[in-house]
Amino acid sequence: MTISDRLITWYQIHKRDLPWRHTRDPYSIWLSEVILQQTRVNQGMAYYHRFHELFPTVFDLAAASEDEVLKAWQGLGYYSRARNLHGTAKRVAYEMAGVFPTSSAGLKTLKGVGDYTAAAIASFSYDECIPVLDGNVQRVTARLMALEEPIDKPATKTQMLQVLNEWIDPRKPALFNQAIMEFGALQCTPQKPNCDICPLQASCLAYEKGLQGSLPFKAGKTKVTDIWMYYFVAVHNNKVLVRHRRHSGIWKGLYDFPSIDSSVGLSPDEVVHQWKHDRGVKGKWLLSGSPVELQHILSHRRVHAVFLEFTCDSVIEPDDAEQWVALEEFSALGVSRLVDRYIREHSQLLGGME
Ligand code: ADE
Ligand code: SF4
Repeated sequence: MTISDRLITWYQIHKRDLPWRHTRDPYSIWLSEVILQQTRVNQGMAYYHRFHELFPTVFDLAAASEDEVLKAWQGLGYYSRARNLHGTAKRVAYEMAGVFPTSSAGLKTLKGVGDYTAAAIASFSYDECIPVLDGNVQRVTARLMALEEPIDKPATKTQMLQVLNEWIDPRKPALFNQAIMEFGALQCTPQKPNCDICPLQASCLAYEKGLQGSLPFKAGKTKVTDIWMYYFVAVHNNKVLVRHRRHSGIWKGLYDFPSIDSSVGLSPDEVVHQWKHDRGVKGKWLLSGSPVELQHILSHRRVHAVFLEFTCDSVIEPDDAEQWVALEEFSALGVSRLVDRYIREHSQLLGGME
């Protein structure tokens, strides 16, 4: 199943019954989105109903006095939003004959309607195939991609939108957008995402790397989390088992060694046990020297890299990303600064190769 299908299947089962999900009327959807920028869903419902009772159509809102609109908005704060709402209602009512623009590009010409709101109205009302990117969607997307960039950077938003454009199903863009927003609100939550019973677990790179607790993050106000990487430096017949990081994050394209990554520190015995079990390693294994720990500090993470060196008397089956490389050829491969420092300063088996 595609990501879209899995999200939509989840959504059909778990979605909340919210009033704006029963309409395709752009006026109602616009009202709901402007209100929900200011408050949470529970309180938002009361305001949504109040606005509909007071101003059933965009003409009623346009014809209201500013005082009436501000009164209806009372308690939501940020009153310039209410004035924008009123101004936009007048523009749609008097300059557009009461018809909201039918594309996201057209909707963005309305005051107070930015990228997110335009995409929400265009997809929910007209099924335009355009992804929404609100806080919930950003979190889900950043986690699925294990995106280790500040999500408030414009380039990161572009990256997320690219991926969302691949995921969104052009036959059901409205459903996809509702589903991924709801998934972020209920399942892939900020503090305790429910990864244990998650329909996207198998495609979630954050889950695979134990990063769901530290992603997403913002530039500036960053909480640093610890992560442990237990590297297996396995040497057999003058060859070392090397991993090519094809897809993942900051070290993409570089070479290192197979590792077990964990959000908690483990003892060498635990790691070796898990590694042998996961990899079905047989034969004799000789731990060479004691484990070496090096730290690598990133803006949002402290990586504790623990290197365990082994000589072994039987070959380990490389996985797709791995290969056995002759020791004299290893130094020609691009490695991260962390791995380079380890080889130069600490490694017993690989040191002094240059
Ligand atoms: N928050 C903003 N827009 C929403 C929507 N359409 N449904 C639920 N929560 C939302
Ligand atoms: Fe979110 Fe966890 Fe599911 Fe990944 S596995 S999408 S982090 S709930």
